Amino acid sequence: MACKSTAKTGLHALAALRARHPWPELSELEGAPPYVWNLDGRELVTELIRNTRPRIFLEVGTFLGGSALSWLAAHPDLVLIALDPWTGGIENFVDMVIDSPPSWVESIEPLRPIAAAIRQHGIANVALHNLRAFRDRVIPVRMPAEMGYPHIRSFVEPDIIYIDATKQPQEYLLVHELFPAATLCGDDWTWQDETGTCPVRNYFHKVAALRDCSVLAKDATWLLAKN
Ligand SMILES: C[S@@+](CC[C@H](N)C(=O)[O-])C[C@H]1O[C@@H](n2cnc3c(N)ncnc32)[C@H](O)[C@@H]1O
Repeated sequence: MACKSTAKTGLHALAALRARHPWPELSELEGAPPYVWNLDGRELVTELIRNTRPRIFLEVGTFLGGSALSWLAAHPDLVLIALDPWTGGIENFVDMVIDSPPSWVESIEPLRPIAAAIRQHGIANVALHNLRAFRDRVIPVRMPAEMGYPHIRSFVEPDIIYIDATKQPQEYLLVHELFPAATLCGDDWTWQDETGTCPVRNYFHKVAALRDCSVLAKDATWLLAKN
């Protein structure tokens, strides 16, 4: 069973966080199709959501909202805090993939309209456009994790935190320190650096030991489960 949260789920605190992070004006994308790029399989986490029915779910690294849509669909009462600065090079990522496709990209054709929409509207607006059907349940926090973690913690402690951003150790260690009751999970279990090793696994194992949890993994997804 996953590490169980005793989250502070005060509606008041969540409403206050929402008020601090209103949705941007998206009328220029009204009626446009979604521009989603689905990445890895995420069954371990959707299963966790269905089994534990969390009230508050924090996603660290939302990109275009592909994984966020899976979390929102898995439980009708889940409120998603989408933490992403949507800056620092991610604006050009889809263009870069089109120019020089990595081996795991089967076809760049579906990416062309996504890249065009990002160039025209900005990646944050495109991501939130993709999530607009769930806007009552999504709080966009446009900050990097190192700023966003303490900021969010000053309002609420999420039940589940899914980490899928920079792959830097601090991202995992800080989340452990600031959110002791949250269940931690994330992407990048299979991610390899240029030497062919998986350095981020060390961070998951370190945090698991600190929390007396074991690491469960399936495809690219990992989850810390109580021993
Ligand atoms: C791999 S993508 C996330 C993919 C997304 N979860 C999905 O499955 O569709 C990584 C995201 O992390 C974001 N990111 C980069 N630095 C970050 C930081 N310091 N804190 C939070 N997010 C960050 C990027 O802007 C990017 O959108």
